[in-house]
Amino acid sequence: MTAAPLPGLEDLGDIAGASVLVRADFNVPLRSGEIADDLRIRAGVPTIGWLRGRGASVVVCAHLGRPGGRPDPAWSVEPVRARLNGLVEGVELLENLRFDPGEEADDPAFTDGLIEGCDFYVNDAFGVSHRPHASIVGPPRFLPSAAGRLLAREVEVLGGMRHPPRRPFVAVLGGSKVSDKLGAIEALLEVVDTLVVGGAMCFTFLKARGHAVGSSRCEDAMVERCRALLDSGADIRLPHDIVALGPGGRLGRPDDAGEVRHTGPDLGDGWVGADIGPGSAAAFGDVILDAGTVFWNGPMGVFEDPRFAAGTGAVAAAAAETRAYTVVGGGDSGAALAGLGLAGEVDHVSTGGGASLELIEKGDLCGLAALRGAPNAR
Ligand code: 3PG
Repeated sequence: MTAAPLPGLEDLGDIAGASVLVRADFNVPLRSGEIADDLRIRAGVPTIGWLRGRGASVVVCAHLGRPGGRPDPAWSVEPVRARLNGLVEGVELLENLRFDPGEEADDPAFTDGLIEGCDFYVNDAFGVSHRPHASIVGPPRFLPSAAGRLLAREVEVLGGMRHPPRRPFVAVLGGSKVSDKLGAIEALLEVVDTLVVGGAMCFTFLKARGHAVGSSRCEDAMVERCRALLDSGADIRLPHDIVALGPGGRLGRPDDAGEVRHTGPDLGDGWVGADIGPGSAAAFGDVILDAGTVFWNGPMGVFEDPRFAAGTGAVAAAAAETRAYTVVGGGDSGAALAGLGLAGEVDHVSTGGGASLELIEKGDLCGLAALRGAPNAR
Protein backbone atom coordinates (compact mmCIF):
# COMPACT_ATOMS: atom_id res chain seq x y z
CA MET A 1 0.00 0.00 0.00
CA THR A 2 0.97 3.60 -0.49
CA ALA A 3 3.16 4.63 2.44
CA ALA A 4 1.70 8.04 3.30
CA PRO A 5 -1.09 10.18 1.91
CA LEU A 6 -0.23 12.22 -1.15
CA PRO A 7 -0.33 16.01 -0.86
CA GLY A 8 -3.57 17.14 -2.52
CA LEU A 9 -4.58 20.30 -4.37
CA GLU A 10 -5.94 21.85 -1.16
CA ASP A 11 -2.50 21.46 0.44
CA LEU A 12 -1.02 23.96 -2.01
CA GLY A 13 -2.50 26.89 -0.07
CA ASP A 14 -3.21 30.17 -1.82
CA ILE A 15 -2.49 29.83 -5.55
CA ALA A 16 -4.18 33.02 -6.78
CA GLY A 17 -1.86 34.73 -9.25
CA ALA A 18 0.64 31.85 -9.09
CA SER A 19 1.94 29.83 -12.01
CA VAL A 20 1.30 26.09 -11.77
CA LEU A 21 3.08 23.46 -13.87
CA VAL A 22 0.71 20.52 -14.47
CA ARG A 23 2.07 17.19 -15.75
CA ALA A 24 -0.77 15.49 -17.62
CA ASP A 25 -0.94 12.15 -19.45
CA PHE A 26 -2.36 13.22 -22.80
CA ASN A 27 -0.80 10.26 -24.61
CA VAL A 28 -3.92 9.70 -26.71
CA PRO A 29 -4.29 7.33 -29.67
CA LEU A 30 -3.98 9.12 -33.03
CA ARG A 31 -5.39 7.91 -36.32
CA SER A 32 -4.16 9.80 -39.43
CA GLY A 33 -3.19 12.68 -37.15
CA GLU A 34 -6.65 12.84 -35.55
CA ILE A 35 -7.37 12.01 -31.91
CA ALA A 36 -9.12 8.63 -31.86
CA ASP A 37 -10.10 8.74 -28.17
CA ASP A 38 -9.89 11.89 -26.02
CA LEU A 39 -10.63 10.20 -22.65
CA ARG A 40 -7.25 11.20 -21.21
CA ILE A 41 -7.68 14.86 -22.22
CA ARG A 42 -11.19 15.07 -20.77
CA ALA A 43 -9.99 13.35 -17.61
CA GLY A 44 -7.41 16.11 -17.07
CA VAL A 45 -9.94 18.95 -17.19
CA PRO A 46 -11.20 18.87 -13.55
CA THR A 47 -7.73 19.58 -12.12
CA ILE A 48 -6.94 22.30 -14.65
CA GLY A 49 -10.36 23.85 -14.09
CA TRP A 50 -9.91 23.76 -10.31
CA LEU A 51 -6.55 25.57 -10.56
CA ARG A 52 -7.88 28.15 -13.04
CA GLY A 53 -10.93 28.71 -10.85
CA ARG A 54 -8.63 29.70 -7.97
CA GLY A 55 -6.83 32.28 -10.04
CA ALA A 56 -3.70 30.34 -11.02
CA SER A 57 -2.19 30.42 -14.47
CA VAL A 58 -1.65 26.90 -15.73
CA VAL A 59 1.15 25.51 -17.91
CA VAL A 60 0.53 21.90 -18.92
CA CYS A 61 3.28 19.53 -20.04
CA ALA A 62 2.75 16.07 -21.56
CA HIS A 63 4.30 13.47 -23.84
CA LEU A 64 2.84 11.90 -26.96
CA GLY A 65 4.08 8.56 -28.26
CA ARG A 66 7.73 7.54 -28.16
CA PRO A 67 9.57 9.94 -30.50
CA GLY A 68 12.92 8.90 -29.00
CA GLY A 69 14.30 12.22 -27.74
CA ARG A 70 14.08 14.05 -31.07
CA PRO A 71 11.51 16.48 -32.49
CA ASP A 72 9.20 14.64 -34.87
CA PRO A 73 6.23 16.45 -36.42
CA ALA A 74 4.25 13.19 -36.41
CA TRP A 75 4.26 13.35 -32.62
CA SER A 76 3.57 17.07 -32.16
CA VAL A 77 1.03 17.78 -29.41
CA GLU A 78 -0.78 20.21 -31.74
CA PRO A 79 -3.98 18.08 -32.08
CA VAL A 80 -4.01 17.64 -28.29
CA ARG A 81 -3.57 21.39 -27.82
CA ALA A 82 -6.53 22.10 -30.10
CA ARG A 83 -8.72 19.62 -28.21
CA LEU A 84 -7.62 20.92 -24.82
CA ASN A 85 -8.30 24.53 -25.79
CA GLY A 86 -11.77 23.46 -26.84
CA LEU A 87 -12.39 22.05 -23.37
CA VAL A 88 -10.75 24.69 -21.18
CA GLU A 89 -9.65 28.18 -22.16
CA GLY A 90 -6.46 30.05 -21.44
CA VAL A 91 -4.18 27.09 -20.77
CA GLU A 92 -0.72 26.73 -22.23
CA LEU A 93 0.41 23.26 -23.40
CA LEU A 94 4.16 22.80 -23.92
CA GLU A 95 5.43 20.79 -26.92
CA ASN A 96 5.98 17.03 -26.52
CA LEU A 97 8.32 16.46 -23.56
CA ARG A 98 9.88 13.45 -25.28
CA PHE A 99 11.27 15.61 -28.09
CA ASP A 100 14.13 16.24 -25.65
CA PRO A 101 16.32 13.34 -24.41
CA GLY A 102 16.48 15.07 -21.01
CA GLU A 103 12.91 14.02 -20.23
CA GLU A 104 13.45 10.24 -20.20
CA ALA A 105 16.99 10.63 -18.76
CA ASP A 106 15.66 12.66 -15.80
CA ASP A 107 18.24 15.32 -16.68
CA PRO A 108 18.38 18.02 -13.95
CA ALA A 109 18.97 20.72 -16.58
CA PHE A 110 15.74 19.67 -18.33
CA THR A 111 13.85 19.88 -15.03
CA ASP A 112 15.32 23.36 -14.41
CA GLY A 113 13.97 24.53 -17.75
CA LEU A 114 10.55 23.01 -17.08
CA ILE A 115 10.02 24.61 -13.69
CA GLU A 116 11.44 28.02 -14.61
CA GLY A 117 8.90 30.69 -13.68
CA CYS A 118 6.58 28.15 -11.97
CA ASP A 119 5.57 28.37 -8.30
CA PHE A 120 3.83 25.01 -7.89
CA TYR A 121 3.76 21.57 -9.52
CA VAL A 122 0.79 19.26 -9.91
CA ASN A 123 1.09 15.68 -11.14
CA ASP A 124 -2.14 14.54 -12.77
CA ALA A 125 -0.44 12.05 -15.09
CA PHE A 126 -1.35 8.72 -13.52
CA GLY A 127 -0.64 6.72 -16.69
CA VAL A 128 3.01 7.77 -16.70
CA SER A 129 3.69 8.00 -12.95
CA HIS A 130 5.60 4.69 -13.08
CA ARG A 131 8.23 6.30 -15.32
CA PRO A 132 11.20 7.98 -13.53
CA HIS A 133 11.21 10.78 -16.09
CA ALA A 134 12.20 14.41 -15.45
CA SER A 135 8.67 15.83 -15.61
CA ILE A 136 7.43 13.20 -13.11
CA VAL A 137 10.17 13.02 -10.47
CA GLY A 138 12.06 16.30 -11.10
CA PRO A 139 9.72 19.20 -10.15
CA PRO A 140 8.72 17.83 -6.70
CA ARG A 141 12.38 18.06 -5.65
CA PHE A 142 12.05 21.84 -5.82
CA LEU A 143 8.44 23.04 -5.93
CA PRO A 144 5.55 22.68 -3.50
CA SER A 145 3.60 19.89 -5.19
CA ALA A 146 0.31 18.04 -5.22
CA ALA A 147 -1.53 15.15 -6.78
CA GLY A 148 -4.24 16.29 -9.18
CA ARG A 149 -7.81 15.04 -8.95
CA LEU A 150 -7.36 12.31 -11.56
CA LEU A 151 -4.15 10.99 -10.03
CA ALA A 152 -5.64 10.96 -6.52
CA ARG A 153 -8.73 9.06 -7.70
CA GLU A 154 -6.71 6.50 -9.67
CA VAL A 155 -4.47 5.82 -6.68
CA GLU A 156 -7.47 5.43 -4.40
CA VAL A 157 -9.23 2.98 -6.74
CA LEU A 158 -6.27 0.97 -8.09
CA GLY A 159 -4.46 0.97 -4.73
CA GLY A 160 -7.73 -0.32 -3.26
CA MET A 161 -7.58 -3.42 -5.49
CA ARG A 162 -5.17 -4.92 -2.97
CA HIS A 163 -8.05 -4.79 -0.48
CA PRO A 164 -11.10 -5.59 -2.62
CA PRO A 165 -14.36 -4.19 -1.29
CA ARG A 166 -16.43 -7.33 -1.99
CA ARG A 167 -15.73 -11.01 -2.69
CA PRO A 168 -15.35 -13.08 -4.71
CA PHE A 169 -12.64 -10.94 -6.27
CA VAL A 170 -12.05 -11.83 -9.93
CA ALA A 171 -9.18 -10.46 -12.01
CA VAL A 172 -9.47 -10.81 -15.79
CA LEU A 173 -6.19 -10.33 -17.60
CA GLY A 174 -5.51 -10.29 -21.30
CA GLY A 175 -3.21 -8.54 -23.72
CA SER A 176 -0.19 -9.81 -25.49
CA LYS A 177 2.82 -10.20 -23.22
CA VAL A 178 2.79 -12.38 -20.14
CA SER A 179 6.31 -11.16 -19.23
CA ASP A 180 4.96 -7.59 -18.77
CA LYS A 181 2.31 -8.83 -16.39
CA LEU A 182 3.85 -11.68 -14.40
CA GLY A 183 4.72 -9.45 -11.44
CA ALA A 184 1.17 -8.11 -11.34
CA ILE A 185 -0.24 -11.64 -11.79
CA GLU A 186 1.78 -12.90 -8.82
CA ALA A 187 0.64 -9.93 -6.69
CA LEU A 188 -2.97 -10.39 -7.78
CA LEU A 189 -2.91 -14.10 -6.99
CA GLU A 190 -2.29 -13.16 -3.36
CA VAL A 191 -5.60 -11.32 -3.19
CA VAL A 192 -7.96 -12.64 -5.87
CA ASP A 193 -10.28 -15.60 -5.57
CA THR A 194 -10.16 -16.31 -9.30
CA LEU A 195 -7.78 -15.23 -12.06
CA VAL A 196 -9.11 -15.41 -15.61
CA VAL A 197 -6.52 -15.33 -18.39
CA GLY A 198 -7.28 -14.55 -22.03
CA GLY A 199 -5.58 -12.62 -24.83
CA ALA A 200 -2.35 -13.72 -26.48
CA MET A 201 -0.80 -14.26 -23.05
CA CYS A 202 -3.07 -17.25 -22.45
CA PHE A 203 -1.02 -19.29 -24.94
CA THR A 204 2.03 -19.27 -22.66
CA PHE A 205 -0.24 -20.63 -19.91
CA LEU A 206 -1.86 -23.15 -22.28
CA LYS A 207 1.58 -24.38 -23.33
CA ALA A 208 2.51 -24.72 -19.65
CA ARG A 209 -0.54 -26.93 -19.30
CA GLY A 210 0.70 -29.13 -22.15
CA HIS A 211 -1.41 -27.84 -25.04
CA ALA A 212 -0.18 -27.31 -28.60
CA VAL A 213 -0.25 -23.60 -29.39
CA GLY A 214 0.58 -23.70 -33.13
CA SER A 215 2.09 -20.38 -34.21
CA SER A 216 0.33 -18.39 -31.50
CA ARG A 217 2.31 -15.79 -29.63
CA CYS A 218 3.97 -17.69 -26.80
CA GLU A 219 6.83 -16.65 -24.52
CA ASP A 220 8.78 -19.86 -24.07
CA ALA A 221 11.02 -18.32 -21.40
CA MET A 222 7.93 -17.76 -19.25
CA VAL A 223 6.41 -21.24 -19.55
CA GLU A 224 8.05 -22.58 -16.38
CA ARG A 225 6.85 -19.65 -14.25
CA CYS A 226 3.35 -20.03 -15.66
CA ARG A 227 3.44 -23.75 -14.89
CA ALA A 228 4.46 -22.99 -11.29
CA LEU A 229 1.49 -20.62 -10.96
CA LEU A 230 -0.89 -23.22 -12.43
CA ASP A 231 0.50 -25.84 -10.04
CA SER A 232 0.20 -23.54 -7.01
CA GLY A 233 -3.42 -24.46 -6.44
CA ALA A 234 -4.65 -20.97 -7.31
CA ASP A 235 -7.96 -20.78 -9.19
CA ILE A 236 -6.69 -19.82 -12.65
CA ARG A 237 -9.16 -20.12 -15.55
CA LEU A 238 -7.84 -20.52 -19.07
CA PRO A 239 -9.89 -20.68 -22.28
CA HIS A 240 -11.01 -24.16 -23.32
CA ASP A 241 -11.84 -23.07 -26.86
CA ILE A 242 -10.13 -20.70 -29.26
CA VAL A 243 -10.86 -18.78 -32.45
CA ALA A 244 -7.78 -19.21 -34.62
CA LEU A 245 -6.46 -17.92 -37.93
CA GLY A 246 -5.08 -20.44 -40.39
CA PRO A 247 -1.62 -20.53 -41.95
CA GLY A 248 -0.99 -17.59 -44.28
CA GLY A 249 -3.85 -15.47 -42.90
CA ARG A 250 -3.12 -12.00 -41.66
CA LEU A 251 -4.35 -10.48 -38.40
CA GLY A 252 -6.03 -7.12 -38.81
CA ARG A 253 -6.90 -7.89 -42.45
CA PRO A 254 -10.46 -9.24 -42.37
CA ASP A 255 -10.72 -9.10 -46.18
CA ASP A 256 -7.81 -11.46 -46.53
CA ALA A 257 -8.39 -15.05 -47.55
CA GLY A 258 -7.10 -16.49 -44.25
CA GLU A 259 -9.21 -19.29 -42.80
CA VAL A 260 -10.80 -18.74 -39.38
CA ARG A 261 -11.74 -21.74 -37.21
CA HIS A 262 -13.31 -22.34 -33.84
CA THR A 263 -11.20 -25.02 -32.15
CA GLY A 264 -10.43 -26.65 -28.84
CA PRO A 265 -7.38 -25.56 -26.83
CA ASP A 266 -4.91 -27.42 -29.07
CA LEU A 267 -3.91 -25.68 -32.28
CA GLY A 268 -2.40 -27.21 -35.40
CA ASP A 269 0.90 -26.18 -36.98
CA GLY A 270 0.80 -22.66 -38.38
CA TRP A 271 -2.50 -21.75 -36.69
CA VAL A 272 -2.57 -18.57 -34.64
CA GLY A 273 -4.93 -18.23 -31.67
CA ALA A 274 -6.51 -14.78 -32.02
CA ASP A 275 -9.50 -14.81 -29.65
CA ILE A 276 -11.05 -16.89 -26.91
CA GLY A 277 -13.85 -19.09 -28.23
CA PRO A 278 -17.57 -18.60 -27.54
CA GLY A 279 -17.64 -21.32 -24.85
CA SER A 280 -14.82 -19.68 -22.93
CA ALA A 281 -16.37 -16.23 -23.42
CA ALA A 282 -19.59 -17.50 -21.86
CA ALA A 283 -17.71 -19.19 -18.99
CA PHE A 284 -15.63 -16.06 -18.31
CA GLY A 285 -18.80 -13.96 -18.45
CA ASP A 286 -20.42 -16.18 -15.79
CA VAL A 287 -17.41 -15.76 -13.47
CA ILE A 288 -17.67 -11.98 -13.87
CA LEU A 289 -21.43 -11.97 -13.28
CA ASP A 290 -20.99 -13.93 -10.03
CA ALA A 291 -18.14 -11.73 -8.74
CA GLY A 292 -18.23 -9.15 -5.94
CA THR A 293 -15.25 -7.19 -7.31
CA VAL A 294 -13.82 -7.32 -10.84
CA PHE A 295 -10.53 -5.96 -12.14
CA TRP A 296 -10.17 -6.26 -15.92
CA ASN A 297 -7.00 -5.38 -17.81
CA GLY A 298 -6.30 -6.35 -21.40
CA PRO A 299 -8.38 -7.56 -24.35
CA MET A 300 -9.23 -11.24 -24.85
CA GLY A 301 -8.15 -11.26 -28.49
CA VAL A 302 -7.21 -9.12 -31.48
CA PHE A 303 -10.37 -7.07 -30.99
CA GLU A 304 -9.45 -4.44 -33.62
CA ASP A 305 -10.10 -7.20 -36.18
CA PRO A 306 -13.86 -7.93 -36.20
CA ARG A 307 -13.22 -11.66 -36.72
CA PHE A 308 -11.57 -11.78 -33.29
CA ALA A 309 -13.53 -9.20 -31.31
CA ALA A 310 -16.27 -11.39 -29.81
CA GLY A 311 -14.34 -12.56 -26.72
CA THR A 312 -13.43 -9.03 -25.66
CA GLY A 313 -16.99 -7.92 -26.41
CA ALA A 314 -18.40 -10.67 -24.19
CA VAL A 315 -16.10 -9.74 -21.29
CA ALA A 316 -16.98 -6.05 -21.75
CA ALA A 317 -20.69 -6.87 -21.75
CA ALA A 318 -20.36 -8.98 -18.58
CA ALA A 319 -18.28 -6.23 -16.88
CA ALA A 320 -21.04 -3.76 -17.72
CA GLU A 321 -23.83 -6.10 -16.56
CA THR A 322 -22.39 -7.51 -13.34
CA ARG A 323 -23.43 -6.04 -10.00
CA ALA A 324 -19.81 -6.35 -8.87
CA TYR A 325 -17.63 -3.32 -8.14
CA THR A 326 -15.85 -3.14 -11.49
CA VAL A 327 -12.55 -1.50 -12.35
CA VAL A 328 -11.21 -1.55 -15.90
CA GLY A 329 -7.56 -0.73 -16.21
CA GLY A 330 -5.67 0.26 -19.27
CA GLY A 331 -5.92 1.63 -22.75
CA ASP A 332 -7.11 -1.36 -24.80
CA SER A 333 -9.77 -2.70 -22.44
CA GLY A 334 -11.01 0.84 -21.81
CA ALA A 335 -11.09 1.49 -25.56
CA ALA A 336 -13.00 -1.77 -26.17
CA LEU A 337 -15.53 -0.81 -23.51
CA ALA A 338 -15.89 2.71 -24.92
CA GLY A 339 -16.22 1.33 -28.46
CA LEU A 340 -19.23 -0.68 -27.28
CA GLY A 341 -20.72 2.36 -25.54
CA LEU A 342 -20.31 0.64 -22.15
CA ALA A 343 -17.73 2.89 -20.43
CA GLY A 344 -20.42 4.47 -18.24
CA GLU A 345 -21.56 1.03 -17.01
CA VAL A 346 -18.51 0.19 -14.87
CA ASP A 347 -17.37 1.80 -11.62
CA HIS A 348 -14.00 3.04 -12.83
CA VAL A 349 -12.12 3.13 -16.13
CA SER A 350 -8.47 3.79 -15.42
CA THR A 351 -6.45 6.06 -17.71
CA GLY A 352 -3.35 4.01 -16.93
CA GLY A 353 -2.30 0.67 -18.38
CA GLY A 354 1.23 -0.18 -17.19
CA ALA A 355 0.86 2.23 -14.27
CA SER A 356 -2.25 0.51 -12.93
CA LEU A 357 -0.57 -2.91 -13.03
CA GLU A 358 2.60 -1.59 -11.41
CA LEU A 359 0.60 0.08 -8.65
CA ILE A 360 -1.20 -3.20 -7.95
CA GLU A 361 2.09 -5.10 -8.08
CA LYS A 362 4.29 -2.81 -6.00
CA GLY A 363 1.80 -0.71 -4.04
CA ASP A 364 3.60 2.47 -5.08
CA LEU A 365 4.96 4.36 -8.10
CA CYS A 366 8.05 6.56 -8.40
CA GLY A 367 5.87 9.55 -9.27
CA LEU A 368 3.87 9.14 -6.06
CA ALA A 369 7.00 8.77 -3.93
CA ALA A 370 8.32 11.97 -5.52
CA LEU A 371 5.18 13.87 -4.50
CA ARG A 372 5.53 12.60 -0.93
CA GLY A 373 9.09 13.97 -0.90
CA ALA A 374 8.07 17.46 -2.11
CA PRO A 375 9.05 20.44 0.11
CA ASN A 376 5.46 20.97 1.28
CA ALA A 377 4.97 17.25 2.13
CA ARG A 378 8.18 16.30 3.91
C1 3PG B 1 0.68 5.11 -21.53
O1 3PG B 1 0.20 5.34 -22.63
O2 3PG B 1 0.53 3.99 -20.97
C2 3PG B 1 1.40 6.19 -20.80
O3 3PG B 1 1.21 7.42 -21.39
C3 3PG B 1 2.88 5.85 -20.70
O4 3PG B 1 3.45 5.81 -21.96
P1 3PG B 1 4.83 5.03 -22.19
O5 3PG B 1 4.53 3.57 -21.99
O6 3PG B 1 5.27 5.38 -23.57
O7 3PG B 1 5.79 5.51 -21.14
